[in-house]
Amino acid sequence: MKQPLMRVETPSRLGRLGVPHEGTSREKIPVLIFDDPQEMAVQVAKKIVRLIEEKRAVGDWAVLGLPTGSTPIGVYQELVRLHREEGVDFSNVVTFNLDEYYPMHPDSLQSYHRFMRENLFDHLNIPPEQIFIPRGDLPREAIEEHCQWYERMIRKYGGLDLVLLGIGRSGHIGFNEPGSDRSTRTRLVVLDEITRKDAASDFFGAENVPREAITMGVGTILEAREVILMATGEHKAAIIQRAVEGEVSRQVPASFLQEHPNAFVYVDAAAAAELTRVKTPWLVMEVDWDDMLAKRAVIWLSRQVDKPILHLEGADFYNHHLHALVHRYGDVDRLCLRVFEDLRSRIYYPDRLPRKKRIVVFSPHPDDDVISMGGTLRKLVENQNSVVVAYMTNGSVAVFDNDVRRHLRFMEMASEVLAMEAEVRERLRREKERIFDFFRRKRPGEVDLPEIQRLKAYIRYSEAIAALETIGLGPEAARFLDMPFYRTGQVRKLPISQADVEIVLDLLREQEPHEIFVAGDLSDPHGTHRMCYRAIMAALEVYEAAGHNRPRVWLYRGAWQEWGIEEADVFVPMSKSELEWKIEAIFKHESQKDRAMFPGAYDDREFWQRARDRNQGTARELDRLGLPAFYAVEAFVVR
Ligand code: F6R
Repeated sequence: MKQPLMRVETPSRLGRLGVPHEGTSREKIPVLIFDDPQEMAVQVAKKIVRLIEEKRAVGDWAVLGLPTGSTPIGVYQELVRLHREEGVDFSNVVTFNLDEYYPMHPDSLQSYHRFMRENLFDHLNIPPEQIFIPRGDLPREAIEEHCQWYERMIRKYGGLDLVLLGIGRSGHIGFNEPGSDRSTRTRLVVLDEITRKDAASDFFGAENVPREAITMGVGTILEAREVILMATGEHKAAIIQRAVEGEVSRQVPASFLQEHPNAFVYVDAAAAAELTRVKTPWLVMEVDWDDMLAKRAVIWLSRQVDKPILHLEGADFYNHHLHALVHRYGDVDRLCLRVFEDLRSRIYYPDRLPRKKRIVVFSPHPDDDVISMGGTLRKLVENQNSVVVAYMTNGSVAVFDNDVRRHLRFMEMASEVLAMEAEVRERLRREKERIFDFFRRKRPGEVDLPEIQRLKAYIRYSEAIAALETIGLGPEAARFLDMPFYRTGQVRKLPISQADVEIVLDLLREQEPHEIFVAGDLSDPHGTHRMCYRAIMAALEVYEAAGHNRPRVWLYRGAWQEWGIEEADVFVPMSKSELEWKIEAIFKHESQKDRAMFPGAYDDREFWQRARDRNQGTARELDRLGLPAFYAVEAFVVR
């Protein structure tokens, strides 16, 4: 271990964690884990500012290597804030970006030149001649010379002081894909298929993602005096574990950081989840056992030895490094019974679900409600609750042009059947032609006309109403909040503003709900769920401060994953026919079926398949632990 281990922040729902003993950790790069990604961004920004000030004190440049992507945005926002509000001076900063797509015009929506201008450079006082970004608009024959020039410029400014990195699911740093050696320099590379898939939503389809890019090399990065690799979100957990705990290998270019004397990994709790000290800390350190950790260990052991919890015996514990746990609880049988009972008490049949209450279900997109909690929603309706489903964003960016065409054709035909006046029909025909014409000329990734964005939103709204009808709710139960932060017409969204919070607040004041359901996953691919969550929590704070009773908050997870058995507070079982009802409701979101625009890069299944697999998966897990063999189960965390 070349560095002392860092203090560990506690991932809140997973019990207490400690610091592994020297020599027992499997981490070969020092890792800092943050509960809150925002806090992580603040710390990184502080570090950068410290460097800038130290360098200025000795009359020197602060030379930074910078990434794009979703990961560094928080850091860039904090740097902008520090400049604006605290007057931090960036005039001695020189920046070298890691990469740029090829080919790519610097003004394109997806260009990293544009990304950096919009997110950072337009808001700081770094002189333009001190900003370097690889050029994606050069002729192919000029690229090699351009790459050599890039390396020369880095050397001219005395080398990189600090490089910030994100990590791709392929394990890439910059665009150094698997296969990249430690000696590579700035060059043109071919992008990995995983990377192109991950970028698909920015380009409105994987087929529009360039096949090549220019990137700083692994060797260039390793020569920096300090490197910080940042990662947030569950989808990064597996690759972080391989980069930090695995062998150094060209297959995972980020693993070369293990050879750097001054490299650090900053992760949020979600991205740290697969590290041994987080996932199974008892394997690498003496843990301070509490009930949550004990529960996790018993569930883990039950899976390891493939026995139901109540079949576990002393030898199973002793053979799996769990002596201390047995010692702490005294009696294996009692411990197992306690964990079993704890899980059993979390199963909610309809009689334990709310009845005759006012309920608001917040759904980030117009389909998360039925995908994530369609079974429970139906039971809440059956329990005579007054249910309002608030769709927070209009979901319009995820509608294909084709669907608008189909609906316009339908309107034209309907106008004829309904014998509308000739003038109205002619107007409709002309509008249809205008929109068809726009689609014909539209470039990949081009933002739709405002009226087309509306039409796309209304397609989603009508689907949401149809889905609610399947659940037993009428159209009056649907509220379309159409929050302003989402209304950019692009994948990239605005920050949450007071206007967003007010909209949520108005609904809370109007409904005065006893219970609210909120998408609680903070790592969906585009951050929309996270933004919605923040707006709701901000609104709740104001609502409570005004003397209203705080509703009980049920957190469900979005389409991408489910709460782990050890984390969930409530399990709602579903029969086969109940799951079929739920799938029927998901089918009503026709524009998202067969081929969704944003399936998330991490999964090729349709949304109904994911919902089915996930609900049946939870049921199977409970069954394997020795709990009742349900057909399917939805899970919630309740606060
Ligand atoms: C981008 C870059 C890439 C990204 C990585 C993670 O300039 O160098 O290595 O850092 O693909 O992307 P996000 O942060 O979007 O998950």
